[in-house]
Amino acid sequence: MTFGARLLQHRKNAGLSQEELSARSGVSVRAISDMERGRARSPQRRTTEALLDALDLDETSRDELRRLARAGRIAVTSPVWSLPPYVADLVGRDTELDTIASMHGGLVVVHGAAGTGKTSLAVRAAHLLEGRFPDGQLLVELEGATPPLERLLKDLGTPAEHVPEDANGQTRLYRSLLAGKRLLLVLDGASTEEEIRTLRADPGCLTIVTSRRRLAGLADATWIRLGGLTEPAAVELLASIIGPARVEADPDTARSSSRCAGCRRWRCGSRATGSPAGRAGRCGTWWSRSRNGAWPRSRRATSTCAARSRCRWRTCRRLRS
Ligand SMILES: Nc1ncnc2c1ncn2[C@@H]1O[C@H](COP(=O)(O)OP(=O)(O)OP(=O)(O)O)[C@@H](O)[C@H]1O
Ligand SMILES: [Mg+2]
Repeated sequence: MTFGARLLQHRKNAGLSQEELSARSGVSVRAISDMERGRARSPQRRTTEALLDALDLDETSRDELRRLARAGRIAVTSPVWSLPPYVADLVGRDTELDTIASMHGGLVVVHGAAGTGKTSLAVRAAHLLEGRFPDGQLLVELEGATPPLERLLKDLGTPAEHVPEDANGQTRLYRSLLAGKRLLLVLDGASTEEEIRTLRADPGCLTIVTSRRRLAGLADATWIRLGGLTEPAAVELLASIIGPARVEADPDTARSSSRCAGCRRWRCGSRATGSPAGRAGRCGTWWSRSRNGAWPRSRRATSTCAARSRCRWRTCRRLRS
């Protein structure tokens, strides 16, 4: 609902013509007509107050009209954009990308263990679908320093001084700003269904949620479970970490090690830190601790075969050298 449409409704309810409202409020007939037809997005504060007094509205209606006027004053620069760059060498995940690409709106939840690549997948998909959502692509970290709703309002063009202080006011403004828009929203790192219900965009938009939890309580979502990488994808990832030459020189070791990387969910995150040798070293540490029983059984290799663990530890050492 826009300010103009609501103004028209209230004027009709009051049984006033545009001329009569103009006479009561001191606002010109032309200005009232422009607002009601949506040609003027919203009046200034003084004009709004004059119209509210002239219509003799109750407090609830006055608050609503003020909010709609404020939303109209906020210049939403379209398209809006707050996506980080995508991982250029993302491997595998074609099926998952296809599933997201087949969606023209609604809600998709990408869930899986820490470091399996949920955020990387969501960001890649958001970039790929740029053309489908002309009003923009936004990503908000739900665990970030700024409360997510505040972050989103600012990303949607709301100046800091116009962000309401109370949560209800923020939600209402957020909904007004989203109305009629076609944008893609990534809600990254969700913990509860409740926060998604508040923040998800309208059905005409696509909301991609990433979470370590399945968030099964969201009734109308599409779920994508992200597990370990397939062996070819894991080998490809390994090659991007330690260099394709070493993988080509010793494909058996690479395959064996990639099984450790993919199926054992050797955290993809380990690639993000340290030198290639250091990253392969992490893998070695993992296996060595597991082999020596330094970690409790639940954290040991999912494979129950100690010999295979030792074998993988050796492959990691060979990769490090
Ligand atoms: N398929 C992939 N190909 C290449 N790199 C990947 C892939 N998946 C993840 N990565 C890399 O692994 C690291 C961790 O990925 P990401 O942050 O997306 O995981 P996550 O599942 O969102 O983790 P968290 O649960 O902690 O939020 C990143 O550096 C990312 O670049
Ligand atoms: Mg993440």
